[in-house]
Amino acid sequence: MIAADVATVVPAVRLRGELRLPGDKSISHRALILATLAAGESRITGAGDGADVRSTAAIMRSLGATVEARPDDDGRNVAYRVASPGADGLAEPDGILDCGNSGTSLRLIAGVLAGLPMTAILDGDASLRRRPVARIIEPLRRMGAVLHGRHGDSLPPLTVVGHTPLQGTDHTPSIPSAQVKSALLLAGLRAEGRTSVRESVATRDHTERMLRARGVPVERSEDGDAVVVALEGGTAVRAIDQHVPADVSGAAFWLVAAAIHPDAELTLRDVGINPTRRAVIDTLRSMGADIEEHRVDVAAGDLAAGATADPTVGEPIADLIVRSSELRAIDLGAADVATAIDEIPVLCLAATQARGTTTIRAAGELRNKESDRIAGIAAGLAAIGAEMTVDGDDLVIRGGQRLRGGTVDSLDDHRLAMTFAVAGLIAPEGTTIERSGSAAVSYPGFFADLEGVRA
Ligand code: S3P
Repeated sequence: MIAADVATVVPAVRLRGELRLPGDKSISHRALILATLAAGESRITGAGDGADVRSTAAIMRSLGATVEARPDDDGRNVAYRVASPGADGLAEPDGILDCGNSGTSLRLIAGVLAGLPMTAILDGDASLRRRPVARIIEPLRRMGAVLHGRHGDSLPPLTVVGHTPLQGTDHTPSIPSAQVKSALLLAGLRAEGRTSVRESVATRDHTERMLRARGVPVERSEDGDAVVVALEGGTAVRAIDQHVPADVSGAAFWLVAAAIHPDAELTLRDVGINPTRRAVIDTLRSMGADIEEHRVDVAAGDLAAGATADPTVGEPIADLIVRSSELRAIDLGAADVATAIDEIPVLCLAATQARGTTTIRAAGELRNKESDRIAGIAAGLAAIGAEMTVDGDDLVIRGGQRLRGGTVDSLDDHRLAMTFAVAGLIAPEGTTIERSGSAAVSYPGFFADLEGVRA
């Protein structure tokens, strides 16, 4: 039941069904941005229709691209047609660029703007204004860009004065971040020389795959324990068509829902299983989850761009079937946190239902997301009768806890709203989620799907 911005979820007797999920949020943002940098027409099908992707689409329009949206996949997703003059023909925006709740929009578009001859201001909602930007300001400044943030250059709004020429740089981010890597690669497109990013853990590589598919060579190499990605500036981005796979981060809620429910079988169609995104699937399997992968393929649209010749270009997809499972506890460390960064909240819920005690170490980056997710998960689990111990940046979750239900606050964070809704499917007394509407940031149909899979 959803009233205003509050949803109440009652336990489900059985979970059955087949779901088509929202298009991947990370890939949708990048497809819109790269289509705007490319001269000509690009079509994007299966794009997510969450508020975050809409923010990016609106900003691309403000920069002078024609971005037409029509419903795709029975209205669940969006088919975009983007017609752009290309990076050299973009226009200085009239007003402030509103990223809404979207950190990906803010950080990736800052990288784009750094190399364009215009002044622009990126802003967003109250949550976005609390998210760190020094991590992109510092390396982009080293490339010659002029950027200013609030609070000693640590917080948005972010002003980008892009009139200066950029030089390539070699950057080692202090925390693994695909947003930082992507911001630098996007700035590097217009920089002189080589831009490289060294990561201790390989973060999601959609930007690299999508640039290669659009004619920009991106090298990937290993240097000791680091993964280095690099490109040379000066290559134009080509317009291509792309189909966006279903979002594995959205699939994660159903993987956990079915695994922790005593009578469940769900089929999730065409889910992106990119090796840099699938950690949640493999982690749940290591915990004993019954997850099958079928029809492993490469998302249509990418194929035309040569995915068959180069396995790092296309986005692999599969149908996932998940069933009720006996979960076991797991120990996750810094590298696991980096590769499953968006799925840690729902994995914490899974851990409450596993046999044994789960530890998740070095999870501090979760405090920098749409909310302080460590505080949000701990408070939300406590409100429904479970507990998680927080010891600095480490989380300890005892398994075998009986959820009771109750009223929880999503903190206006989509991933917390959906995590607690999944908990509600097995909590006998009913779970009321405040500010549940935040789910629409990445998954507008989530609560309808939740009702749809009750059988
Ligand atoms: C994203 C990268 C991650 C992730 C976010 C999407 C991306 O952020 O949490 O939801 O699309 O590049 P960080 O790079 O800040 O870890």
